Amino acid sequence: MPQSSLTVTDNRTGRQYELPIQDGTIRSTDLRQIKTDSGDFGLIAYDPAFMNTASCRSAITFIDGDRGILRYRGYPIEQLAERSTYLETAYLLLHGELPSRSQLEKWIEGITVHTMVNENIKKFIDGFHYDAHPMGMVISTVAGLSTFYRDARQVHDPEVRRRQIHRLLAKMPTIAAYVFRHNAGRPYIYPDNTLGYTANFLSMLWRMSEGTYAVHPVLERALDVLFILHADHEQNCSTSAMRGIGSSGVDPYSAIAGAAAALYGPLHGGANEAVIHMLNEIGTVAGVPAFIRDVKAGKGRLMGFGHRVYKNYDPRARVIKRLAEEVFDVTGRNPMLDVALELERIALEDDYFVSRRLYPNVDFYSGLIYQAMGFPVEMFPVLFAIPRTAGWLAQWEEGMRDPEQKIARPRQVNTGPGVRDYVAMSKRD
Ligand code: ACO
Repeated sequence: MPQSSLTVTDNRTGRQYELPIQDGTIRSTDLRQIKTDSGDFGLIAYDPAFMNTASCRSAITFIDGDRGILRYRGYPIEQLAERSTYLETAYLLLHGELPSRSQLEKWIEGITVHTMVNENIKKFIDGFHYDAHPMGMVISTVAGLSTFYRDARQVHDPEVRRRQIHRLLAKMPTIAAYVFRHNAGRPYIYPDNTLGYTANFLSMLWRMSEGTYAVHPVLERALDVLFILHADHEQNCSTSAMRGIGSSGVDPYSAIAGAAAALYGPLHGGANEAVIHMLNEIGTVAGVPAFIRDVKAGKGRLMGFGHRVYKNYDPRARVIKRLAEEVFDVTGRNPMLDVALELERIALEDDYFVSRRLYPNVDFYSGLIYQAMGFPVEMFPVLFAIPRTAGWLAQWEEGMRDPEQKIARPRQVNTGPGVRDYVAMSKRD
């Protein structure tokens, strides 16, 4: 019977160590006993960008990047996209199980009553320049929410956490819609609590003088499916930020602001925006080969391709590609779709991309749908942040309940100078 342990020989000393293996992992802290002498700090694992380090135990989302599998709480993403709704999926992520009918009704009601934001939020948003990036406004505004809910600081009280979770899920679409209206120079539209979560969001975005906004059911469902697909993705950059910031005991509004800031970057949630800029730059199908040549020559990246975890087709991209056709039937075909299809066709055959296992990720087609629905590209990361709020909160909640979690505090390999004396200004060259 093989031992569930790792035997390590330190060739500096000739000593051997037995490190337990649990769930396919060793504990980095077990390396600390490996020392050259009693004054030695002990061995540290060096892993920039966390390429091979698990920062937590989590039961929320499962990804098998080699096989292109994504599951929330065990349920395949394809089934959830087909049969669930965003709010039901958010319940699943946060509670671990699908809700009963009455649980779902209570959950939806508990969120819907919090869709309004304090009137001061409008003044706050008014302070931004007319062309401020919506993501910058969302990050700042959600951070600002922490000043309205002082109870939120009691993060060790599960009931207080539950209340903030409802508030955050409810208010993110309202804030997102307000920043959009601010950019458009249009009056803010209050939430309509007679509408569902996604329909209400669309109403706050697009309603003008009509009493009730007539939401197109295909577009409403498409956006809801996009929300399901974006709801969680285990320990990605923004979720790690959420857990890391949350581990300091700060309120969840401040932590979500930090997570959203991480999402804003072009290598993460900003990629769908970058995809549209790239497609516009390429312009036509005829421009694709030259662009691919440039990427292979190291002049930029094929945005929307590649993933740290997926080394196969991102299962979300597959669903989104199908969804795009349904949306285009309503909105008309996005002319950039042909450029995207040609890029994908060539890239999937080209040895550069094949050998590096670069496939379309979730962002490759989502931007085309958002654009066809009338969203400006700058709103794309915001459309990602709204649903990812459920995942951030589920991961935060799990971290708060985990007795092993402490304040996140990585080690470093110091490469700076040794000790030296301060040099007076007159003696410096
Ligand atoms: N286009 C061209 N080449 C690429 C791409 C790309 N999109 N992605 C990776 N590569 C190449 C790299 O140049 C590198 O090649 P090399 O080995 O010859 O140096 C190799 O593939 C490995 O790339 P890394 O950067 O080491 O991979 P990493 O896991 O660090 O990066 C990332 C993952 C950031 C997603 C990367 O693939 C990328 O920049 N993609 C484009 C941006 C994007 O679409 N981001 C969205 C990700 S999904 C999300 O966050 C929701």
